[in-house]
Amino acid sequence: MTGMGAIVAMVNQKGGVGKTSVTLGLASAAMADGRRVLVVDLDPQASSSWVLGDDPATSNPSVADVLAGGGTSGAARAVLPSSWGDGVDLLPADGQLGGWQPAGSRDLTRLRKALVGLADDYDAVLIDCAPSLGALTMAGLSAADLAVIVVEPSALGLRGISAVADAIDGVWEKGNPDLDLAGVIVNKVPAVSAEAERRLDELVTVVGRRAIWKPMIPQRVVIGQAIAERRPIHSYGWRATDPIQAFDALWASLRRRSRQVTR
Ligand SMILES: Nc1ncnc2c1ncn2[C@@H]1O[C@H](COP(=O)(O)OP(=O)(O)OP(=O)(O)O)[C@@H](O)[C@H]1O
Ligand SMILES: [Mg+2]
Repeated sequence: MTGMGAIVAMVNQKGGVGKTSVTLGLASAAMADGRRVLVVDLDPQASSSWVLGDDPATSNPSVADVLAGGGTSGAARAVLPSSWGDGVDLLPADGQLGGWQPAGSRDLTRLRKALVGLADDYDAVLIDCAPSLGALTMAGLSAADLAVIVVEPSALGLRGISAVADAIDGVWEKGNPDLDLAGVIVNKVPAVSAEAERRLDELVTVVGRRAIWKPMIPQRVVIGQAIAERRPIHSYGWRATDPIQAFDALWASLRRRSRQVTR
């Protein structure tokens, strides 16, 4: 038993900004810190399931069974140890998830009920959401204590961020009064780019300086390599010094922020 782990949803309807990379970078940092996390893959692309060693050819139970009403016991049956090691477990996605539609508002809260029952076994539960603001992401936000918006500092990477913030407000008002916008994690920050600087200024005007988590995550080839090779970023040692430092610091912030969560 490690105490109540906060349930954290990584969101943005924009694809490719780094929701999965940030989820897995934080999981890697947690493992290096001797903690336990559960990664919940709520994306039919099943990227984090694949990186964490789930074999898509098997018909194991998945998060789809939990959305269908499996409860905490159903979730516990679907949780797998990841291929990374003891610190990271996986509630895998399923390619069929894309067709999921809630029959009513109660269906949206099923995932939360199930995950709250599991969260005590973990230091954090990290939900990797799909690039949409559709039903699945609504279920993810309805399940979460904290929402983190992942963005990249490009014109397209920032488009639609107000819609994400509005969706979080909507879930807070209607279904999940425990949900808090924890802030914005900025990913893929190039070493030198006037364009990125302008976009960061724009981001500050949209969300406010205090909402932006520090440090930002640098753009580094090794982050993509870690995903492609299905390995934790921490296993790259000196070749990944800056991203490792960034994920360690963000994990420490997430732990601090998690301690304020009450449910
Ligand atoms: N900091 C980074 N530096 C370099 N490449 C990165 C970084 N973060 C992510 N990438 C690469 O960008 C691509 C998209 O990242 P990722 O899959 O994490 O985004 P995503 O938001 O989860 O995408 P989707 O919306 O499709 O789920 C991947 O190829 C990944 O390796
Ligand atoms: Mg993803």
